Amino acid sequence: MAEFESSTLAIPATGAVPRHIAIIMDGNGRWARSRFLPRVAGHRKGLEAVRETVRACGERGVKHLTLFAFSSENWRRPAEEVSFLMQLFLRSLEQEVGRLNDNSIRFRVIGDLSAFDPAIVEHVARAEALTAKNDRLVLTVAANYGGRWDILQAANRCAREHPGEEVTEELLSRYLCLRDAPEPDLFIRTGGEERISNFLIWQLAYTELYFTEVPWPDFGAKQLDEAIASYQQRERRFGRTSEQLAASRLQPDVA
Ligand code: IPE
Ligand code: IPE
Ligand code: MG
Repeated sequence: MAEFESSTLAIPATGAVPRHIAIIMDGNGRWARSRFLPRVAGHRKGLEAVRETVRACGERGVKHLTLFAFSSENWRRPAEEVSFLMQLFLRSLEQEVGRLNDNSIRFRVIGDLSAFDPAIVEHVARAEALTAKNDRLVLTVAANYGGRWDILQAANRCAREHPGEEVTEELLSRYLCLRDAPEPDLFIRTGGEERISNFLIWQLAYTELYFTEVPWPDFGAKQLDEAIASYQQRERRFGRTSEQLAASRLQPDVA
């Protein structure tokens, strides 16, 4: 497990390339409708964008990529769309995991898998086991994930395992789904909406947010580079002043 790091308790290490990028892959349905295609055609095309984005992140030295594939609220969609998404997930698990492994990418899923078909749960477990030792890039797919669910499941486990103990940030964060990853440096949402939609609400405390109109099926290496370029223009202050940052660049020890 990585050392405990919290952007609200200490100032995290930052660099030109984000260590962790989290993406809400949105706009598949509208991409398809604008082409007079069924919404699900957008999801199918979105899988190609996932492939390209994973590859581009690996090439750029990003260590963690977390993708929001299905939210705890997406069950409210029409049954046929939910079922298509589940099949697409299963098929891509079958087809893509070998390639991820060949590229030294660790794959894992976060979210409440208990609601999923047992075939999916089994494929996820197999894919996670196969790629567990890979360390070039950790690809985390959030499926049936909700930020509030994550905090609640952590709080409940924490209360069970530490009855009567005061809960601290450090203790609680040991039970969160992304406990072994640094907090995201860069958050990207495609498709034009500017909201978090119950994604990583705890972990995004000091993340740089980037929104683009580009729908997810049209996202790729070029758009990723634009997002990273925007990130590189930001001054991450973590509560401090610009003057303090300038001083700490001259004297790194006082950071
Ligand atoms: C994101 O695209 C994919 C999922 C939520 C599964 P959408 O399906 O939300 O596409 P829009 O937002 O309706 O265009
Ligand atoms: C967020 O997108 C979830 C995923 C991309 C998986 P939605 O399309 O479900 O979000 P809202 O409903 O527009 O907020
Ligand atoms: Mg959407």
